[in-house]
Amino acid sequence: MAPLKVTKVLCIGAGYVGGPTCAVIALKCPHITVTIADINKARIDAWNSLDFNLPIYEPGLEDVVRQCRGRNLFFSTDVVKGIKEADLIFVSVNTPTKKSGVGAGFAADLNYVELATRQIAEVATTSKIVVEKSTVPCRTAESMRTILEANSKPNCRFDILSNPEFLAEGTAISDLFNPDRVLIGSLQTTEGKDACASLAAIYANWVPKENILTVGLWSSELSKLAANAMLAQRISSVNALSAICEATGANIDEVAHAVGYDSRMGPKFLKASVGFGGSCFQKDILNLVYLSESLHLPEVASYWRQVVEMNEYQKRRFSKRVVDTLFNTITGKQITVLGFAFKADTGDTRESAAITLIRDFLSERAFVNVYDPKVEESQIWYDLAEACPTMTLDNIKKQVKIHKSALEASKNAEAVVIATEWKEFKEIDWAEVYKHMKKPAFVFDGRLLVDADALSKIGFKVATIGRPSI
Ligand code: UDX
Ligand code: ADP
Repeated sequence: MAPLKVTKVLCIGAGYVGGPTCAVIALKCPHITVTIADINKARIDAWNSLDFNLPIYEPGLEDVVRQCRGRNLFFSTDVVKGIKEADLIFVSVNTPTKKSGVGAGFAADLNYVELATRQIAEVATTSKIVVEKSTVPCRTAESMRTILEANSKPNCRFDILSNPEFLAEGTAISDLFNPDRVLIGSLQTTEGKDACASLAAIYANWVPKENILTVGLWSSELSKLAANAMLAQRISSVNALSAICEATGANIDEVAHAVGYDSRMGPKFLKASVGFGGSCFQKDILNLVYLSESLHLPEVASYWRQVVEMNEYQKRRFSKRVVDTLFNTITGKQITVLGFAFKADTGDTRESAAITLIRDFLSERAFVNVYDPKVEESQIWYDLAEACPTMTLDNIKKQVKIHKSALEASKNAEAVVIATEWKEFKEIDWAEVYKHMKKPAFVFDGRLLVDADALSKIGFKVATIGRPSI
């Protein structure tokens, strides 16, 4: 039998991965009808909103959705109908780190994947290709296959593929348009390879064939964890060196530049920071740690665990530097935190370093003024309430104020802390900010973003990550 030519795609999960990925498939494959379904009605309503007030901020995404929505791209809460109609289903639901039970704090919570898989098995009346898109531990595809096979109806076969997504938030659309590679894992059976060819044919509408890699199921699953772990490891390595730089007078930017010039190393992912965040790095490394422990490989587990520990250390070290520099106390002082998202060009706050910094400042009883260009106020309150379980939200609100601009947030502050590398923070009128701050006025640059010498000339005292204070 020749590989199935897919004409109807369903994506279960309209989040940061499923939404942009399947919107781009719709754009690049006008002959395919794409439905993105989610149980979260508010999220689907936002995807369908008349003014394109989409639930995710991602440069270029609105333009893609404007071109396809209502043509061959549909957003719906009707998951059942979507399953019935589709030839190929992406499972792109959330897989957070488990909060309780076996593997709590490390293992991925696969409850959402399992529920979605069971629903596919229950509802489907025709054969489907089921594609695991969420980041999951190795061998999840095998569990999905067992569930599907145990519950399928006669004449209804399921082929499972792993197709991890490598897009980074903030650049999702350009990453999807020009991916370094598309990775598809399948069973190495004739049916498995045919299913793989069907999915590869979708990507081949815009991705060069040599960039579509087809591998075994387990290799595909492990490659996703490995890629994120190795990217995060580079950041932890450079952050570890940033501590040495601060203590010795070296400049981490210069060190990283010199190191990255080595063609074997390359310049990317060597930017020292206040710590990596995002929904993937920490989660995937902890997954790898859990996997290594389950495989009785404690040395491997502790090697990877250290990458996350270094990240925690970096955040702690930065908040301690703020306290130490402000004469060993920030109690009652006004601290401005610029940026709440985990990186620039996204409204996503998952594992954002800003949350940890603000939690530390609150525990020192400082007053915190926050400004972020994209993160919703309600999200900031939600994250802070979760990060500070011993404080009531009312008490948090007595210590934290959310502002509409960097200038407004900095008025009467003793220190400005840059937590996210938003471009607009580079372009702030720093002389104006200085005028309205208490003196001495401090800037703590956790992102190597601003020109420290220029700020120092204005009168600021500047502490940059990976450099001695000036
Ligand atoms: C990451 C992977 O890059 C992507 O391939 C995968 O699909 C999902 O996880 P994402 O988390 O969206 O993507 O963003 P990324 O650009 O990787 O940044 C992650 C964190 O590392 C951010 O907090 C960022 O600010 C930080 N970072 C990144 C650094 O501190 N220094 C760097 O040099 C690069
Ligand atoms: P990611 O960053 O991996 O895309 P998100 O949390 O942004 O993760 O999105 C996952 C989405 O999956 C959420 O909007 C959630 O409501 C949705 N979801 C979870 N389980 C199901 C399910 N069984 N059916 C439909 N949607 C689901």
